[in-house]
Amino acid sequence: MKSLFTIVLIAFSLAFISCSDKRERNYQYFPNMYVSVPYDTYGEYEIFPQEQEALLIADGTISRGFTPYEYEDDTEGYNKAKAELENTLPYTEENLAKGKELYNIYCAICHGENGKGKGYLVEREKILGVPSYDDQGRAITEGSVYHVMWYGINTMGSYASQMNNEELWMVDHYVMKLKAELEGEDPREFETESE
Ligand code: HEC
Repeated sequence: MKSLFTIVLIAFSLAFISCSDKRERNYQYFPNMYVSVPYDTYGEYEIFPQEQEALLIADGTISRGFTPYEYEDDTEGYNKAKAELENTLPYTEENLAKGKELYNIYCAICHGENGKGKGYLVEREKILGVPSYDDQGRAITEGSVYHVMWYGINTMGSYASQMNNEELWMVDHYVMKLKAELEGEDPREFETESE
């Protein structure tokens, strides 16, 4: 009698288990643990515009730490930046040292450590037309240097995504220092952080 009961019990359990659909969730004792109360990412809900949880970011949104750049990527924008855009960082020994470090990482490979335009890639004839920073025809300024780092220029790429705003200005100080050296000017005096 006892064994019959066991057999019936096993048969019942098997029938019970085999009927469940493996692609579906089984019993949920506390559904809130499985089915989230908040809206699912990318879920479809009527309450949202376009019935989509994943909304587009609001117009004019910028990411934290990002500084917008107001000059357009065209000749007019270049000329304007060249004429009026100024370095926002004080010319301190520290900023210049950091600028040198970044310059040697990002720029020296083409422009050379001294800014003469004879970097490693130029010597190896991998890239052409890299100017010296004292090129008379270009007469670069703080503003134009920033502009070309932001947008790139012809075969030179943009550095806006590699460095933040502060770092770009540090490199800018260093490029202007190299330019002054190439032109045989006296070194610029350092400022203090508070100036
Ligand atoms: C892949 C090589 C390459 C690298 C790396 C590079 N440049 Fe250039 N750069 C060029 C070339 C080529 C030009 C000339 C572009 C042209 O006018 O056709 C140029 C031009 C310039 C000019 C003159 C633009 C003008 O106003 O006429 C400046 C300033 C400059 N680069 C700064 C930098 C700085 C700063 C970095 C590093 C953040 C850098 N470059 C990295 C290749 C490079």
